[in-house]
Amino acid sequence: MTLLVSALSAEAEAVAAHSDWEKEYDWNGYAFRRGVWTDGSYSEPIALIQTGVGKTQSAMVTQRAIDEFEPERIIMFGAAGALDPDVRIGDIVVASDVLQHDLDATILGIEKGTIPYTGIRQIPSDPELVAMAMEVPVPESAELAAFDAENPPEPDHKRVRRGRIVSGDEFVSDPFYRIELNEEFEALAVEMEGASVALVALVNHVPFVLIRTISDRSDGSAMEFEQFLGVCSSFSWHYVSHMLRTIASAG
Ligand code: ADE
Repeated sequence: MTLLVSALSAEAEAVAAHSDWEKEYDWNGYAFRRGVWTDGSYSEPIALIQTGVGKTQSAMVTQRAIDEFEPERIIMFGAAGALDPDVRIGDIVVASDVLQHDLDATILGIEKGTIPYTGIRQIPSDPELVAMAMEVPVPESAELAAFDAENPPEPDHKRVRRGRIVSGDEFVSDPFYRIELNEEFEALAVEMEGASVALVALVNHVPFVLIRTISDRSDGSAMEFEQFLGVCSSFSWHYVSHMLRTIASAG
């Protein structure tokens, strides 16, 4: 069983639309689905949850789903804001590790991002799941091609990268703060749930990977996030379906 985790309904629905669900229900207002992904001779039991935004909801709903489904792995996906200046809209970041950028007990002499008295700071993604994600062919979209035609990337631009993603309970929309986060944490991207879901996965000993598509530049640029959320959601399905095929064909 593979547990698929997303925060937003646009992200979850883009994945939900491609599978037949045996059971769809609501746990205290959060959408849960259980079914079997199939593609010709391959199949893999899956569950899909939509956790809502932010670290608290995403942790709470993920724990509930782990208790219920006892997954062998978690694939989390969705949109993120760019932090690294070389990361562009439509790029994919496969998280090598994740951390909570807004967890601050530095006054106690504890390094920023460390969960006090645990020694836990950056939480690595599962190396096998990262390698599997890095094998997925680079996704394409007409909308992104149109955007690239107007804002051409450097010729050697890498559309997919492996690197740190940081999470916090704020939508980052300030150019100076964006630079600060990039430099302080050496992070490629920012979002609001990855580190909390990774912590729940770690505590429950479930292999975890986070794959995010860049929806905006985290600098307040008008409406980028809403404009590109559709591209991010379709790229999420691209990654999930390729990875499920790899998992199913190995198992
Ligand atoms: N998710 C997508 N874009 C984001 C941003 N700029 N800040 C936090 N979470 C995001």
